[in-house]
Amino acid sequence: MDFLTFLLLLLSIIWIWILFQTLNSKHQKSGKLPPGPYPFPIIGNMLELGKKPHQSLAKLSKTYGPLIYLKIGCLDVVVVSSPEIAKDVLQKYDQVFSSRSPPSAAMAKEHDKLSMVWLPAENQWRKLRRICKEQMFSTPRLDASWDLRREKLLILSDYVNQCSVNGRTVKIGEAALITSLNLMSATLFSVEFADFNSDSSQEFKEVVWGVMECIGTPNIADYFPVLKYYDPQGILRRNKVYFDKLFAIFDGIIDERLKSRGTSVKNDLLDALLDLNQKLEPELSRDDIKHLLLDLFGAGADTTSSTVEWAMTELLRNPEKIIKARNELRDVIGMKKQIQESDISKLPYLQAVVKETFRLHPAAPLLVPHKADVDVEINGYLVPKNAQILVNVWASGRDSNNWLSPDLFMPERFLDRETDFQGQDFELIPFGAGRRICPGLPLARRMVHLMLATLICNFEWKLEEGLKLEEIDMTERYGITLPKAIPLEAFPIKL
Ligand code: HEM
Repeated sequence: MDFLTFLLLLLSIIWIWILFQTLNSKHQKSGKLPPGPYPFPIIGNMLELGKKPHQSLAKLSKTYGPLIYLKIGCLDVVVVSSPEIAKDVLQKYDQVFSSRSPPSAAMAKEHDKLSMVWLPAENQWRKLRRICKEQMFSTPRLDASWDLRREKLLILSDYVNQCSVNGRTVKIGEAALITSLNLMSATLFSVEFADFNSDSSQEFKEVVWGVMECIGTPNIADYFPVLKYYDPQGILRRNKVYFDKLFAIFDGIIDERLKSRGTSVKNDLLDALLDLNQKLEPELSRDDIKHLLLDLFGAGADTTSSTVEWAMTELLRNPEKIIKARNELRDVIGMKKQIQESDISKLPYLQAVVKETFRLHPAAPLLVPHKADVDVEINGYLVPKNAQILVNVWASGRDSNNWLSPDLFMPERFLDRETDFQGQDFELIPFGAGRRICPGLPLARRMVHLMLATLICNFEWKLEEGLKLEEIDMTERYGITLPKAIPLEAFPIKL
C-alpha cells in the first residue's frame, strides 16, 4: 500500500470513528455543552489553539465566557477562565475532576502507570503523595535540610560574583535552573547534581529540559488516540531516550547509596524511599523510586527557574521596584549577609514580588490538565465524562474583573491584600488547588524567594549595551511550562 492510500485509509477510519463517537455521545448526553466556537470536521477546533494556546483560549473566553467547550480532534476539552468556576472544579467537585489523561509522551517506559503526575487519584497516587509530604515537603523535613540548600545558594552567589569580576553577563534562567537542580538534589538525596561549568551537569540539565519539551509539545497523537502507536512526530521515541539517560543517572545514585548505607546515614528522601523498598514486603519498587525522582525533577526544576527568570525580568524593567526589594532585604538581613529561610516571612515586599510574578507569569498556564470522571453540571452546562479540563490561570491572572490594571507589574497590590497562592484564593492559583495541588509548593516557595534574594541583595544589574528597558523581550515560549522565549541576560555589579 503506498503512503497516500494509507493516509486516506487512516483519515477515513478516524472520520468514521469521530462520527460514531459524536453520535454516540449526543445520544448519551442530556445537558447543554458550554458555548464555544463551531468545530471543523475531523480536526475540530484544533486551529483555534494557535501557537500559544493559553493566549488563544483567553481571547476565546472573552467571546464565549469563562466556561467554554472545544472539540480538539477526538477530545472534548472544557476551558475554565474565572476564579469562581475554577473553585467549582478544583474544590466543590474536586473528586470527580482529579483524574488525568496522560499525554502519549508520558507512555515512555510506562511512566503513565507509575508516575504521581499521571496516575489517577487512587491508592498508588495517594501513597506517593503521602511519602513525599512526610519525607520531603513537611516543615520539619524542609527545615532539617536547609543547611544543604544554603551551600547551593553560596555557589550561585559566587558564580554571579565571578561574572561581575570578569565583566560577563549572567543568563538568569540558566543560572536559576542549575541552582534549582542543585537545591532539589541536595534536598532529595544530599548530593550536588549540576555544576556551573561541568559537561555532565550540562547534559543532566538538557535531559530534564528534553523531557519537559516532549511532554509540552502539542502532539497530534493526543488528539487522535488511534495515532498513538504510530507516534507520527517521534515525540514518544525521543522521550524514551531522555528517560533512559535519566534512569541511568538515578540507578548510579541508588547503587552508590545502597553501598554506603552500612557506614553512613543521610536521612534524606532517598534513604526514606530505600527503607520502603527494602522492607520485607516492599512498599515501593526500584522502578517506583526512579519514576518518582523523574516526576520531582521534571515538575520542579523548570517551573522554579522560569519563575525566577520572569521575576528578574520584571524587576529589571522596573528599576524602582528592584531597589525597593533590595532595601527591604538589607534592612532585614543586613549588608553582605546571606538570606536564611526563616527570613522569608519578614520580607513582605519580596513576597509581593513573587506573588505578582505568579499572577502574570504562572509557570503552568493551564495547570496540568484534569479529566472529568463522570458527567458533571457546572454553571448550568454539562461537562461531559472524560473531557479534559484546562484551568487557564494565565487568563484569570490578567483579567480586569479580578485585578486593577492587570497588565502592570505592581507588587504593591499585594501589600494590602491577603491573597496567597496556597490554593485557597482562586484568583491566584499558580500551583493549582484541591487534591492535585502541587505537592512541591513548600519547597518551591522557599527556592524562589531564596534565589531572588541572592540575586538582588548584593548585586546591581545592568542590561546589555544599548538595550533600553522597554526593549526587554517579553515573549513567552509555550510548552507545559512558560519560560521566556529569549533568555534574559544581564551584567551583575557587586555592591
Ligand atoms: C503539580 C506548579 C514546583 C512537583 C503541579 C501543578 C502545578 C504546579 C500548576 C498541577 C496542579 C494541578 O494539576 O491542578 C508548580 C510551580 C512550581 C512548582 C508554579 C514552582 C514555581 C514544584 C516542585 C516540585 C513539584 C519544586 C517537586 C520538587 C510537582 C508534582 C506534581 C506537581 C510531583 C504532580 C502532582 C499530582 O499530580 O498529584 N505543580 N510546581 N512542583 N508539581 Fe509542581
